[in-house]
Amino acid sequence: MKPILKVGVIGVGILGEHYARFFHEHPATQVVAVADVRAEAAQRVAGLVGAQAYADYRDMFRQHALDVVAVATPDAFHREPTLAALAAGAPVVIQEKPLATTWEDALAIYEAVEKHKARLFVNFANRAAGLDIATRYVIQAGLLGPVIYGEARLDDNIIVPTGLWGERSRAWAADSSTAHFLLSHVVDLLRWHFSPAEVKEVYAISQAQVLGFTPDLYDAYLTFDAGLKVRVKAEWIKHIDELVEFYLCFSGRDGTLVYNKRAGFGAEPGWRANVAATITPAQLLAHQDALLARGVKVSALLHRPEPTTGQLSAGSSVLQPSLEFRGPSSGGLMALVGRFVDAILEDTLTPRSWQGNGPLPTHADGLRQTQVVTAIIRAAETDRPVRVD
Ligand SMILES: NC(=O)c1ccc[n+]([C@@H]2O[C@H](COP(=O)([O-])OP(=O)(O)OC[C@H]3O[C@@H](n4cnc5c(N)ncnc54)[C@H](O)[C@@H]3O)[C@@H](O)[C@H]2O)c1
Repeated sequence: MKPILKVGVIGVGILGEHYARFFHEHPATQVVAVADVRAEAAQRVAGLVGAQAYADYRDMFRQHALDVVAVATPDAFHREPTLAALAAGAPVVIQEKPLATTWEDALAIYEAVEKHKARLFVNFANRAAGLDIATRYVIQAGLLGPVIYGEARLDDNIIVPTGLWGERSRAWAADSSTAHFLLSHVVDLLRWHFSPAEVKEVYAISQAQVLGFTPDLYDAYLTFDAGLKVRVKAEWIKHIDELVEFYLCFSGRDGTLVYNKRAGFGAEPGWRANVAATITPAQLLAHQDALLARGVKVSALLHRPEPTTGQLSAGSSVLQPSLEFRGPSSGGLMALVGRFVDAILEDTLTPRSWQGNGPLPTHADGLRQTQVVTAIIRAAETDRPVRVD
């Protein structure tokens, strides 16, 4: 029989409860303890999963030798529990994004992981969504040609900074921002899609006219070393029907990918890659199969686009090869955590369940993500481009 990994969860709010339930249900893990400064939250979640509750994670470390510690404290408070877990000898930490909200905190976490020869995974959950895996595949396989420009908009309903965490919401959002809470996701996705390219320069604007306790939005241009430029934008002042809207689009020399990940009013969720016209039907089907092997079902299409110009409404004579999926993506907040468990059990960064998708995100990815996000904030504050070296 395989050993069961003993897990402790620090911070059992919205995400921490997901962690506790996930590890409770996973056959290879057992939640033995949870810790939260809000003792009643710790007691409640501990009761759900049959774990011991602690108000102070240091007491938890004194009582339990843990194989895995999950840290799901608010954005600005990841450093202390993660460093404490590493100092207590935890071989693996799974941390919520962002790695940190300051470069100093991110570097301290990175250096502690290295010093203790431990492993830290960052739950950049979007990486496990089927259509994000498909996006990376299309880009990495060169199906759009070299990508020239991209756009990513990830916006929350204004209810998030004003109400998602109840009475704690404004203080929570004040310690974070749309840059840390939302653009950390986008920056990580872009680094993963365009690996090994890295962000070299950042320019950004911000507004602070509505909320008062945290910036209303960040709107940034990222220049990658490969020449690619991507506009990334995240708002916290939208009066919209949905909780989240998320849209990505990439224009390559030979094709375009459009991804309505969390569709807003008037849009349908879906994903379409109009790939290079030189790709044959047989090659298109091979790409469809390759994605299926990664667990992502998209349709290979050969269609006739119908652009309308003035009075003319005619299909092009050129057939457009495409890969398409209509509907929401698979994957959820804990899907990548499942891959982390596989990685721990197989002692690798590329477990069998994650083949073809690059290494799983670690402290090194978190450090780089924090560097780019803090550069976005600095660029907006100084109204100057900021180099990221
Ligand atoms: N809410 C979301 O939709 C969402 C989605 C994805 C990721 N995340 C990330 O997950 C993390 C947690 O977010 P959340 O929404 O669950 O926040 P939350 O406030 O609901 O939960 C955080 C918990 O940590 C506890 N806490 C704070 N300091 C602590 C400490 N020193 N020791 C122990 N417990 C402490 C708080 O009491 C709270 O219960 C954040 O980094 C966030 O960006 C949140």
